[in-house]
Amino acid sequence: MKFFIDTGDVAEIREASAMGLVDGVTTNPSLIAKSGRKYLDVVKEICEFVNGPISAEVLSTTYDEMMAEARAWAKVHKNIVVKLPLIPDGLKGVRTCAAEGIRTNVTLCFSPNQALLAAKAGATFISPFIGRLDDISETGMDLIEKIVTIYDNYGYTTEVLVASVRNPTHVVDAALLGAHICTIPFSVMKQLAQHPLTDIGLKKFVEDAKKIPK
Ligand code: E4P
Repeated sequence: MKFFIDTGDVAEIREASAMGLVDGVTTNPSLIAKSGRKYLDVVKEICEFVNGPISAEVLSTTYDEMMAEARAWAKVHKNIVVKLPLIPDGLKGVRTCAAEGIRTNVTLCFSPNQALLAAKAGATFISPFIGRLDDISETGMDLIEKIVTIYDNYGYTTEVLVASVRNPTHVVDAALLGAHICTIPFSVMKQLAQHPLTDIGLKKFVEDAKKIPK
C-alpha cells in the first residue's frame, strides 16, 4: 500500500520522508491556509524533495476557471496532480485533463456512484473521505469496500486514495480492503509506529544492555 502524507506543513513532509513513509503528498485549501503560506510556494517546495504524486487543489468551481488553474498547476512540475471537486464541472475538468495528459485527484467523494463517475471521466485518483462519513454516523470504510469492488468489477485503473483518515484503524482497514493508497496526517503516521509492548521491551533491553560485560 502506498502512503501519501496529508498536510500543508513542509517540515512534517520532510520528517515523514526521512522514515520512508512518503510515496506522495495531498494538500487542500484548508491545510494550506493553516500553513500561513502561499499555495504555490508550498507546492514548489514540496516538489523539490518529494518524488511522487503531489496533489494541488483548484480553488475555483466553474469548468473554465478550474481548467485554467489545472493547466497552470500542471506547468509547475511533472509530479503535480490536479485536485478537482466531485461536481459536474469538476468531472468535465477531469475528462479534459485526461485528454491533455494532466493527472487528476477527484476530491470530496462520499458515495460509490460518485466514485464510478470519476473513474468513467478518467480520474487518476479518487479520494473518498472516510472520516467525514464517520463524523455523521455512517461507516466510511463501507464506501472504500464498495469502490474497490466496483473498480475491480470493471477493471478501472483509477486508484483508490483513502482520505480524511483520522486514526490507525482506518489505515489497517483500508489495507485489508486492498485500497491502493492512504493519505495520512503526520500525527496518525506517528501513531502507527506505537505499541506499548515495544516500549516495555525496549526499556528492558536498554537496562539489560548495561549488565553485559564490556
Ligand atoms: C485529502 O486529500 C483530504 O483533503 C483530506 O484527507 C481531508 O481530511 P479531513 O476530513 O480530516 O479534513
